[in-house]
Amino acid sequence: MYKITLIPGDGIGPEVTEAMVRVVEASGINIEWERIYAGEKVIEEYNTPIPNYVIDSIKKNRIAIKGPITTPIGEGFKSVNVTLRQNLDLYVNLRPIKSFKGIKSKYEDVDLVIVRENTEDLYAGIEHKIGDYGAESIKLITKPACERIINFAFNYAKENNRNKVTGVHKANIMKLSDGLFLNTFKEISKSFNVESDDLIVDAAAMNLVLNPEKYDVMVMPNLYGDILSDLCAGLVGGLGIIPGANIGKEYAVFEAVHGSAPQIEGKNVANPTALIQSAIMMLRYLGEHKYARKIEKALETVFIKGEKLTVDLGGKSSTQEFTDEIIKNL
Ligand code: NAI
Repeated sequence: MYKITLIPGDGIGPEVTEAMVRVVEASGINIEWERIYAGEKVIEEYNTPIPNYVIDSIKKNRIAIKGPITTPIGEGFKSVNVTLRQNLDLYVNLRPIKSFKGIKSKYEDVDLVIVRENTEDLYAGIEHKIGDYGAESIKLITKPACERIINFAFNYAKENNRNKVTGVHKANIMKLSDGLFLNTFKEISKSFNVESDDLIVDAAAMNLVLNPEKYDVMVMPNLYGDILSDLCAGLVGGLGIIPGANIGKEYAVFEAVHGSAPQIEGKNVANPTALIQSAIMMLRYLGEHKYARKIEKALETVFIKGEKLTVDLGGKSSTQEFTDEIIKNL
């Protein structure tokens, strides 16, 4: 029996987390979910979107899975996701991007993994105003953070029989910060028997659209990882299917790449695949490969049959009908 922190989140979060829970429970694995609320709904009561009990619960259970949480744009509180990643030192953001047979997209054989540094860079949101004249964001890149994320990427490639690691940067312009990332990448690549190369982030964006099958493991600083993950989601059918994991030495928090999609909140149309795939990653992290594969096979069957797909994938089924279909195929 596992005890896992479950954060339903905002927007479509509660719908996709409940769908995920139904599928995981129907697979037969014994999990006790500790439901913890964070985000918009708790601000009024606690004066923060992330009360202390959230961090306490994850520290106690060590594993969490969460729905997306809304972050106000251009004002308001700091992102709950950034706070969680920094407070729990979840330094890896792992996002596998893989084509599914049965899901229509322009590409058929995409199978790459984005390894995104998760604690620093511009994404840390260290900013200040310069009077009424402007504002400054600080792009902090440190050697230890580069070393651990790049080592993770090479070890991941080795352990998962991946052929190549590509370091993504903009060291031609940011010679000190991205230069540090690139130099560390080159240094570490020498100690692994894995093919490697590096690519400037703008070229990476174009090459991923032209020839995504050429890429395997891609490691990069935080902000580039945020942007290229969504680009890669678009290669294989959209944000509704891409999972993610935030991993540190002590804790792991699993979540989809997508956000809270407020436009479709409460309409029973959200695609829960991304969170279900995040749960598959979580089960593999726990060593529960049998249950992970069982759910993955059911998903594959539903996509190949193609009769009950959600609207984002060109189907007509609701979140609930799609979830029922997965459970039927377990
Ligand atoms: P979004 O990912 O919520 O939505 C982008 C587009 O994808 C929208 O058209 C949406 O309807 C669609 N979409 C997303 N997930 C879907 C799903 N499961 N099924 C079907 N369609 C789906 O990104 P957006 O609009 O930029 O952000 C909305 C809010 O979410 C913001 O407050 C943002 O800060 C937050 N956010 C939270 C994340 C997290 O908690 N991990 C990650 C990304 C954004």
